[in-house]
This record gives sequence, C-alpha cells and structure tokens, in this order.
Amino acid sequence: MAMVRLLQPEDAAAWRDLRLHGLAHNPQAFGASLAEEQDLPLDWFAERLGSTPVFGAADATGVMTGTVGLGFMRGEKVRHKGFLWGMYVRPEARGAGLGRALLQAAIAHATGRVEQLRLDVVADNAAALALYRRAGFSAYGTEPRALKLGEDYLDEVLMALRLPPAPAAPG
Ligand SMILES: CC(C)(COP(=O)(O)OP(=O)(O)OC[C@H]1O[C@@H](n2cnc3c(N)ncnc32)[C@H](O)[C@@H]1OP(=O)(O)O)[C@@H](O)C(=O)NCCC(=O)NCCS
Repeated sequence: MAMVRLLQPEDAAAWRDLRLHGLAHNPQAFGASLAEEQDLPLDWFAERLGSTPVFGAADATGVMTGTVGLGFMRGEKVRHKGFLWGMYVRPEARGAGLGRALLQAAIAHATGRVEQLRLDVVADNAAALALYRRAGFSAYGTEPRALKLGEDYLDEVLMALRLPPAPAAPG
C-alpha cells in the first residue's frame, strides 16, 4: 500500500486532481461542491496545503490515491479541538487499508496538539461510519438536513474522539 505522508504545496496538482475526482464522484461525502472548487487556480490548492495539515498517499505512478485533512480551532475556548475534513480514497484503492492509514496519520499528528477531534459523516455512509468507529470515534448526535444537494437533504452523524495527552517532555 502507498505510504501516507504530510502533503506540501508542491503536491497541489496531484491533490487537486484527487479532490476534484472526489467532489465529482462522491458529492455527498464533502461539505464543499465541485462547482465551488473546479475553477479555482492551482495556487489556491497549494496555499491550502501550506496552511493546514493534509495527508495523502500516491501510487507508484505518482497518482494520488487518498487524502484526509486536519483543521484546528483557533479561539481561546475552542483551541483544544481539531476536526477532520476531506477524507477520500479513489474507488480502485479502497478496501486495502488506506483510509485507516490516513486516519491514523491524522490522529497521530493531532495527538499532543489538541485534546479531541470531531468530524461529520453522512448518516447512510456505512463504510465511513465503520472506518471512524473502528478508529475509536463515537457518535454524539445527528444533524438533520445538514447538507442540501439539489433538492435532496442529507442528515449527518456528528462524531468525536478524545485524544491522549501529549507525552511528557524528556528530562
Ligand atoms: C470511506 C473510505 C475513505 C474508506 O477508505 P478505504 O481505504 O476503503 O478503507 P479501509 O480499507 O482502510 O478500511 C478501514 C475500515 O473501514 C471500514 N470500511 C471500509 N470500507 C467499508 C465498506 N465498504 N463497508 C463497511 N465498512 C467499510 C471497515 O471497518 C474497515 O476496517 P476492516 O477492513 O478491518 O473491517 C472510502 O470508502 C471512500 O473514500 N469513500 C468515499 C468518500 C467518503 O465517503 N469519504 C468519507 C466522508 S466522511
């Protein structure tokens, strides 16, 4: 399986390609839409990779096969929290552990930086719900009609994971 790494601004073209593929083929899996992102310049994707941790994995030919993003809340009272966004694995790469590896990389990066992680997942997305549950996330509620795609409304399950405290500094 492809190795998961923290993406850099130089990965923008491959990441853009993967993200637009996801927005086109699994629109219900994202809060953003294809129309919002497909015409944005490459610099926008590079800036995003430079300003927030995004993980990805590429196959032997350099095609990016999976990604997940990690965000951090900023305000004084909420900066103990992070959130996951943009989890996507290309259909041909699914079922081989890449989603789990991406999630583990994001959780490892968040551990010691924040105390808890949250995410939203469309209520009928059984694969993603199972992936997150298996990683320790638990559901704490449902937002009815969280997304509207055309005339269709989708409910989202809200999930959270408590993280262990940062390891004590040596000495
Ligand atoms: C959800 C998604 C990221 C899973 O990626 P993946 O690489 O196929 O997942 P993995 O192979 O790492 O599987 C890890 C765990 O997820 C769960 N899982 C993955 N695919 C599943 C499926 N089709 N049905 C049920 N559980 C599934 C299982 O618990 C699995 O662990 P197990 O194999 O030990 O049982 C992928 O299906 C995807 O990109 N879907 C479309 C976009 C999407 O839904 N993103 C999430 C938005 S919140």
